Amino acid sequence: MENRTIRVAIAGVGNCCQALLEGIEYYRKHPEDTRGLMNPEIGGYQVTDIVPVAAFDVNAHKVGRDLSEAILAPPNTAYRYAGVTVKPCGVTVKMGPVLDGNPAHLAEFVPTADLEPCDVAQELIDSGAEMLLNFIPTESHDAARFYADAAIKGAGIGFVNGMPTLIVSDPGYQQAAEQRGVPIIGDDVKSQFGGTAIHRALATLMQNRGVHLDETYQINFAGNTDFANLMARGKSKHRSKQEAVTSLMPYPVTMSTGFTHVELMKDRKTTIFLLRGGNFGNAPLHFEAKLEVEDSANFAGVMVDMIRYMRLALDRNVAGVLDSACAFLTKHPPVQMPDDVALDHLRAYVAGTRER
Ligand SMILES: NC(=O)c1ccc[n+]([C@@H]2O[C@H](COP(=O)([O-])OP(=O)(O)OC[C@H]3O[C@@H](n4cnc5c(N)ncnc54)[C@H](O)[C@@H]3O)[C@@H](O)[C@H]2O)c1
Repeated sequence: MENRTIRVAIAGVGNCCQALLEGIEYYRKHPEDTRGLMNPEIGGYQVTDIVPVAAFDVNAHKVGRDLSEAILAPPNTAYRYAGVTVKPCGVTVKMGPVLDGNPAHLAEFVPTADLEPCDVAQELIDSGAEMLLNFIPTESHDAARFYADAAIKGAGIGFVNGMPTLIVSDPGYQQAAEQRGVPIIGDDVKSQFGGTAIHRALATLMQNRGVHLDETYQINFAGNTDFANLMARGKSKHRSKQEAVTSLMPYPVTMSTGFTHVELMKDRKTTIFLLRGGNFGNAPLHFEAKLEVEDSANFAGVMVDMIRYMRLALDRNVAGVLDSACAFLTKHPPVQMPDDVALDHLRAYVAGTRER
């Protein structure tokens, strides 16, 4: 029988990893329940076909433990699905190279394990992983490039970049992926119903209705380590969030983004949107909205689709940038498209009438 298992390796066993693995377990436990999935199946693959086979972190509470335990180690704090426990999976979290992954403002929450890093590329090969999912902290550029090198150039497997370092948008990595015959998706996940997806939809609506958008902001706050990190070093996240909106507009729009760490909110994130412009005769228009969402679940809802789009590319021997998946599912794809166009392309990709 054809093997439907999708073998994934994960760099960064933080809240997004926890939400991904516990979410998959939720759907395993409730096979009839497809609420919250953008696609119950993609090319015949179910969410429950995704299986972790290797994981890397640097936190002393996580390294050396079974992945099922490591996802619950502090400071992880993702939403817990009622009655869901990930069973021991026989995957021990390995020590990765720290590089710029755990600076002082994060080391407050994350004790660095006193261990030599493993040979990541060799671990990837030995585990039989088909792709590496990169979930390390924003602005860890050196570490992100290390994992991209290990996956794309070293092990020759697919690479999904969940964070904003420009890997998939980098022509050097695009060329390396094509040469090694591996697909890549990134950069920076556009969450399922998140600030970026909503902001883009509002900006598009204004354009379609002839409203001129003058200026806009998006303020985000949550209590997870991602937000503690973003306050200290959020440059690439500001860029990917702002470009995701301003790139849609046919004229310059002033946009500001803000991040605040509010510890008691844990992994629950609030986003406040403001859009100001003019409608008929440029009469003033002011729009505000607020979203509250479980941050990492919002990420995982997209990741389960990215993984399956990646597997389709591997099945079809398609290498390099998967343009339509990048455009619909990431904040900073190499080629930005309006979301409706990207979704059409993605459906054609699944149907096999588009290569990528
Ligand atoms: N909705 C979302 O949560 C969302 C959306 C889009 C993008 N992202 C991005 O996804 C990434 C992960 O987010 P998170 O909330 O899981 O963050 P997190 O801080 O909870 O997890 C990051 C993990 O990476 C580990 N790490 C640090 N340096 C490492 C290294 N060198 N090697 C291996 N592991 C290392 C940390 O110990 C931690 O376990 C962030 O870059 C974030 O910006 C998140």
